[in-house]
Amino acid sequence: MHHFHLCDGVLHAEDVPLDRIAEAVGTPVYVYSTATLVRHARVFRAALAGLDDPLIAYAVKANPNAAVLRTLARERLGADAVSWGEVARALHAGVPAERIVLSGVGKTGDEMAAALRAGILQFNIESEQEAHTLSAVAAALDLTAAVAVRVNPDVDAGTHAKISTGKSENKFGIPYARAAAAYALCASLSGLEPVGIAVHIGSQLTDLAPLERAFERIGQLIAELRAAGHPVHRADLGGGLGVPYDADQPAPPTPEAYGAMVARVTEGWDVRLIFEPGRALVGNAGVLLTRVIRVKAGAEHPFVVVDAGMNDLIRPTLYDAWHDFRAVAPRGERFTANVVGPVCETGDTFATARPMDRVGEGDLLAFMTAGAYAATMASTYNSRPLTPEAIVSGDRWAVTRERQPIEALIAMDRLPPWLSEENK
Ligand code: LLP
Repeated sequence: MHHFHLCDGVLHAEDVPLDRIAEAVGTPVYVYSTATLVRHARVFRAALAGLDDPLIAYAVKANPNAAVLRTLARERLGADAVSWGEVARALHAGVPAERIVLSGVGKTGDEMAAALRAGILQFNIESEQEAHTLSAVAAALDLTAAVAVRVNPDVDAGTHAKISTGKSENKFGIPYARAAAAYALCASLSGLEPVGIAVHIGSQLTDLAPLERAFERIGQLIAELRAAGHPVHRADLGGGLGVPYDADQPAPPTPEAYGAMVARVTEGWDVRLIFEPGRALVGNAGVLLTRVIRVKAGAEHPFVVVDAGMNDLIRPTLYDAWHDFRAVAPRGERFTANVVGPVCETGDTFATARPMDRVGEGDLLAFMTAGAYAATMASTYNSRPLTPEAIVSGDRWAVTRERQPIEALIAMDRLPPWLSEENK
């Protein structure tokens, strides 16, 4: 469910016609819907209503835009961060430190120290080596780090290989067989307090069965740890719930079905559950608005050349991801076309032989479900400045990230002395 809909023949975000934003800000531009963000946060919370005080820690990586973060922080969501930068952004947006979890295989000592000083809730550690480093950092600061041991349960999440994280060959987590020993290690190290177990097996999951298998293994581990005399207070079940990208494909499981599965599997665990949803909260709360530069004749189908490129939205070329397209002012006609960007790579292709709304030069097109892993993965490849972002709330809208001027991009470069003006 989202709040992008046709009204008087024009695609709107809530009560704002998208062409108005395109006129004012130019294209390409990401547009987010506050109502959709709020709705998803509430639906997710309602789906977990049977659980005792769960923490929903929004996965900041999905969309770290300040307005998105603050909207979710106002819904009392926490944050799952994977860098000090994400912790800093979450704090800046108003997420209290005691709702922030820090994950990631490559936390540096400096990041650990900054997060410890900020007083975050928990570090999800991903290796024994990391435990030693965190211990040394915490001890030097005379602070205690609450840690959860992230377990790699060796479960195939059945998603795209580049976003699967819970198989033994993936870099994430500590193998199940070593997890109890890693927990004991944490208990023995100064400055660390093991508080729980964490797991995350992948993203855009369209089947609950692998999640259930992973959670069952976590349940066994908790029992094993307690039998060995370790206290276990929390279980962080990660994120991963998929969203519908393609209206013609079966819809992924609902948050309700996910919540019911979690309630069943975790019954009797007697822990505080933490969740790290990203895409499920923000995925279809955003669109990428783009304008058709021209329609070029192709061998079989026309090429719709739009002003957004793979640098603005990399998901199609990186993961073969599907995004639906909708004309902002549909004429009621359809055609089959290839949708491509202006970047000089064949991979700058958003869709091939796609049946879609007929569009022509100058028309606006919306890439749907572009709220997650979209603006945040943008680059300046081909010297294309970073895409601006706007957010709508009812009939109000505002730019929440300015379009980066090319001058700003150029100004970041420095010439070495031997090439500078004076020495020309
Ligand atoms: N927790 C951890 C430890 C994660 O690694 C991730 C995502 C999440 C939570 C949030 O997962 P979600 O609920 O959003 O599925 N760029 C890719 C997705 C990468 C996901 C990385 N980790 C894409 O565009 O599909």
